[in-house]
Amino acid sequence: MTPPADSSLSPETIRAHLNTRELGATLSVHDEVDSTNHILADLARAGASHGTVVVAESQTAGRGRLGRPWISPRGVNLYASILLTTAQASSAITWIPLLTAVAAVRAITTLAGLSLRVKWPNDVLVPRDGEERKLAGILVEAISGGQTGAKAVVVGIGINVNMPAEAFPEGLRPSATSLLIETGHSVARAPLLAALLEEMERLHNQLRDHGADGIAAAYQSLCDTLGKQVRIELAGNDPIEGTAEGLAPDGALRLRTREGKILEIRAGDIVHLR
Ligand code: BTN
Repeated sequence: MTPPADSSLSPETIRAHLNTRELGATLSVHDEVDSTNHILADLARAGASHGTVVVAESQTAGRGRLGRPWISPRGVNLYASILLTTAQASSAITWIPLLTAVAAVRAITTLAGLSLRVKWPNDVLVPRDGEERKLAGILVEAISGGQTGAKAVVVGIGINVNMPAEAFPEGLRPSATSLLIETGHSVARAPLLAALLEEMERLHNQLRDHGADGIAAAYQSLCDTLGKQVRIELAGNDPIEGTAEGLAPDGALRLRTREGKILEIRAGDIVHLR
């Protein structure tokens, strides 16, 4: 399956689809960067405004959660980072990774017609044949220093769009997927990014104006982790197993351990057991 080249990722093609007030008002598309999160963090420290977006055709050092790399070949996928700085109570910031997962699911569902699920906190998964394959990942990083104040965050999102199966490293093939693999056709990246930015803006405004309840409800209806037996792998610690019972008020995962203890998990890799 060789996708036709999607050469349409430019500021002009993205703007032609964009219907936002703030997200993407300042937008740059680069041919190659180390990491769009890194470029945008530097811009934030130099005073970039809320809603600034950095997009790249390829990344040489794409960053994933928990220090993992994010495979970022040229011209096929979306690699984008969005700066959020305005009026965020510190208590709301912890909802941004979850809010972004909801926005990604809504945008991808609208554009590609897939039914998607989320693994806590923010892996976007495609359920197929009793398995779940990862389609998109989100890395939210707080910015400190410079002119931004403490509340700025860079939201990085990678969506596997037109990546054929053979372009994934062999070890990832059973657990990763792309829109091309799932739909059998290529998907234009500019309208997808525009839809994502619109959903993010809507949800971010909702969080700012009405608090986290609506976001929590939307997230819970998409999250496959809740109610499942899970194993939580934490760097440098023994894994913990238990039942994912729900979300804490800040979006942390409430886990009931085998011994009946309730833990609130704020970082770590989740494995769905059943
Ligand atoms: C994950 O591990 O699931 C998170 C992956 C996040 C990848 C995106 S691609 C755009 C942005 N730039 C990066 O270096 N990482 C994020």
